[in-house]
Parts: sequence; C-alpha cells; structure tokens
Amino acid sequence: MPAANTTRAYGSVHRFLHWTIAVLILAAIGLGLYAESFRAGGAATLARMVEVFSIHKTVGITVLFLALARILWVLVQGHPRPLHPECRLETFVASAVHWALYGGMVLMPLAGWLLHTAAPGAGFADILWPFGQRLPGVPQDTELSERFTAFHVNGWWLLAVLILLHVGGALKHTVIDRDATLARMAGNAAKLPEPPRDPRPNRWAPPLVALALWGGLAVWAATAERPQDAAPQEIAGQSAAPAATAAQPGSTWTVQSGTLGLSVTQAGAPVEGQFGTWTAAITYDEATGTGEVVAEVNIASLTLGAVSGMATGPDFLNASAFPTARFEGAITRAPEGGTAHQATGTLTVAGQSQPAALPFDLTIEGDQATATGTLTLDRRDFGVGANYADESMVSFPVAVAVDLTAARS
Ligand code: HEM
Ligand code: HEM
Repeated sequence: MPAANTTRAYGSVHRFLHWTIAVLILAAIGLGLYAESFRAGGAATLARMVEVFSIHKTVGITVLFLALARILWVLVQGHPRPLHPECRLETFVASAVHWALYGGMVLMPLAGWLLHTAAPGAGFADILWPFGQRLPGVPQDTELSERFTAFHVNGWWLLAVLILLHVGGALKHTVIDRDATLARMAGNAAKLPEPPRDPRPNRWAPPLVALALWGGLAVWAATAERPQDAAPQEIAGQSAAPAATAAQPGSTWTVQSGTLGLSVTQAGAPVEGQFGTWTAAITYDEATGTGEVVAEVNIASLTLGAVSGMATGPDFLNASAFPTARFEGAITRAPEGGTAHQATGTLTVAGQSQPAALPFDLTIEGDQATATGTLTLDRRDFGVGANYADESMVSFPVAVAVDLTAARS
C-alpha cells in the first residue's frame, strides 16, 4: 500500500495515524474516567489514582504529538475526495465532524497539559517521560488551572459525541450504504473507485462549525462563575456575632470578604485549595489588643485540585460524619505591639479537638480591618488520613491560610 494519500484512498501513514490516535483517544477517555472513579476515597486508592492519572496524561500527550504530525501530513498530502459530493448535507456533516475531531485531538490533550502545568506544583501525577512536566510560559495559578480543568472535563463529552457521530456514520456507510468509505481507511485501496470531482466544495462552513463548538466551550470555561467565587459574598451575611462575642469588650467585626485556603503536599507536589463556605465572628479591642474569634468551616465546601472528593471523603475530613470544623480562640497582640497577633484556642476537625495557635497580621484603618495568617497543622493530630501512615502520598503538615477583610459593626 502506498504511504501517500491519493484521491481515492488514505495511504499507510495516514491510516497508521488515524487508527493509533483513535485507540489512544479511547484509552485516554477510559483512563481519565477510571482515575476519577478513585476520587470518592477508600483506603490506599490515592496511590492507584496517581498512577492511573500519570498513564492518562502520558497517553494524552502522545495523542497531542501524533495529532500534530497528522495535521502536518494532511497539509502536505491532502485528502481523498468525498465519495458522494452530490449528498450535500451528508458531506457537510461528515466534514464538520472531521474538523471538530481534529479540534478535539489537539485541544483536549493541550487543555490537560495546561491544567497540569498551571496547577501549583505542576499537578500531582507526573507525565511519564524525561522531558519536563510544564509547558513554558504558563504561570502556576490555581484559578487558571481550574479554568483549563473546566474545559477538559466538559470537553470530553463533546469529543465523545463527535466520536459517536463519526463511528455511527462509518457504520452506516458500511452496513446500509455498503460503499467504499471504510475501505478507504481500512481496506484494499487498489480496488476502490475514483470519486467524482466535487463541483462546489464547501470549504469554510465545516471548519467554522468546529470552531464554534470548541470556541464556545472555551469561552464558557473561561468565564463561568466558579463556586468559590460566589462564596465570600455569603460570608458577610452569615457572620453575625454569636453569643461568644458578647462577653468581650471592644468592637464586633463583620467579615466582608476573604479566603480560607488549604495546602498540602500530595505525592511530592503541592496542592492548593480553599473552603467555599465559612463564617467567623470576631471581637477585638484596639486599646488592649485582645479579642475573641469563633470560626466555623463547612468541610464539604472544600475544593482541592483534583482530589476534593477524596479530601472530604471518609478517609480524610469525612464531611458526612463531621460536616463542620470549628476554631474558638482568644486573640492577643504580640508584646512588642505592631500588627503581629495570635489567636490561641481549640481547633476541632473531624470530631477531634486540639489546642491550636494561628499567628496573623492585623491592620486596622478606620473601620476596616485586614487579617492574614497561616496555621500549620499535623493531620495525624486529628486522625485525618489514618490509612496514609507515611508521607509518600499525603504530607503530615497541612497549612491553612486565612486572609480576610472585616468591617467594624
Ligand atoms: C486525548 C487526550 C485526552 C482525553 C480524551 C482526556 C480525557 C479525560 C477524561 C474523560 C477525564 C475525566 C473527566 C471527568 O471525570 O469528567 C480527564 C481528566 C483529567 N485529565 Fe485528561 N484527557 C486527555 C489528555 C490529558 C492530558 C495530556 C493531561 C495532562 C498532561 C490530562 C490531565 C487530566 C487531569 C489532571 C484530569 C483530572 C481533572 C480534574 O477533574 O480535576 N488529560 N481527562
Ligand atoms: C474507532 C472507530 C472509528 C472508525 C470505524 C473510523 C472510521 C473512519 C473512516 C472510515 C474514515 C474515512 C472517512 C472518509 O474518508 O470519508 C475516517 C476518517 C476520519 N476519522 Fe475516523 N474512525 C474511528 C475513530 C476515530 C476517532 C476516535 C477519531 C478522532 C478523534 C477519528 C478521526 C477521524 C478524522 C479526523 C477523519 C477524517 C480524515 C482525516 O483527516 O484523518 N476517527 N474514520
């Protein structure tokens, strides 16, 4: 069989690329979904999940490079002519689906690689090759990574529908029409008929349809509101001071906006996330530099890279049994004065209470206060991740970063 494409059939190079990419794309979808199935938790599934994601990513990157080679090959070679140019609609749909499949072959693995690159620590599961993990020029930024993730985890549905249409079309030609369509890609090219020249080739509409499909998804992924973006607005309304604040002299402060971040090292790479819903009731007396804080955190509102479900599942924070974490403590200003403060008290996570101290900086300007600090915990003190007895998969230290602004009420 000739290596080159002819007007009648695809040559061996194009066939090799078509079938190899087809198998690898189906494998990547299967592996992606299989890896996701470990998310809900269960003992020691994290290691397996990391392993499967590494294979998924490596298969996906292989698809990307083969797809780029295929595009170059098509640019040099051209395609066989459409078999039935007189069937205008059918030829148009087939061509639009082919263009959209090319889009998927490139954009799906690219979005995967971008989400991996932008994730702080370059993703938790490595690509299995020695050429580096990150695409150059892409900042490590959790929000950016989440945008690429939104494209990737919704894009596979589009790709799957396109593949179904495509395979359905190939089957229809083989079983119903009994024409040469499948043979052009899989059979003996020598016996195939020469298709007629298309008098009115539809050059622009099919690529525009493909552009609209993938472009629409990209615009949606770039602009859709993330659940955690909405959350800080809820905080202000919910942070009415509870009874604990009544005994304390000084002003009561109402949290207006803020983030409650969590970071942990997973399989050697840092993973960052945040709680979407939490409340904090704060009193603080500027004259004495003392006050009180009571914070409650909705555990189920945690988003943590690719492992939110596992982190809030039974092996770790166990949100269904322990929906709320609570910190209750006394605020004191450092003896030397200035902005340095500490909140010392009791932290309850997953049903276990331990003494905890949050050092933070507090600046007050008029009726606005800004507080920033980080509390580092040892997950073992709260029995979190007891099935992960060493640090190979999940580190013992977990950092909780508080960053909020509050108004005097
Ligand atoms: C042909 C290429 C690819 C296909 C078809 C594909 C498909 C998928 C699918 C079906 C999922 C599961 C989505 C879900 O649960 O809703 C997934 C998840 C994922 N893929 Fe891919 N993928 C490809 C390439 C890649 C590449 C090259 C990388 C990274 C280098 C990658 C990284 C990921 C990650 C990190 C997730 C988990 C995302 C999350 O839910 O946080 N993928 N992919
Ligand atoms: C697994 C089942 C599949 C079958 C039976 C199949 C069959 C075919 C056939 C018969 C053709 C030639 C159509 C013609 O010349 O009119 C073709 C072309 C094509 N196929 Fe598939 N295919 C399959 C999977 C895939 C997958 C998974 C992709 C990519 C995601 C894909 C992408 C393409 C593209 C883009 C073309 C247009 C020709 C080209 O530029 O390569 N196919 N396929």
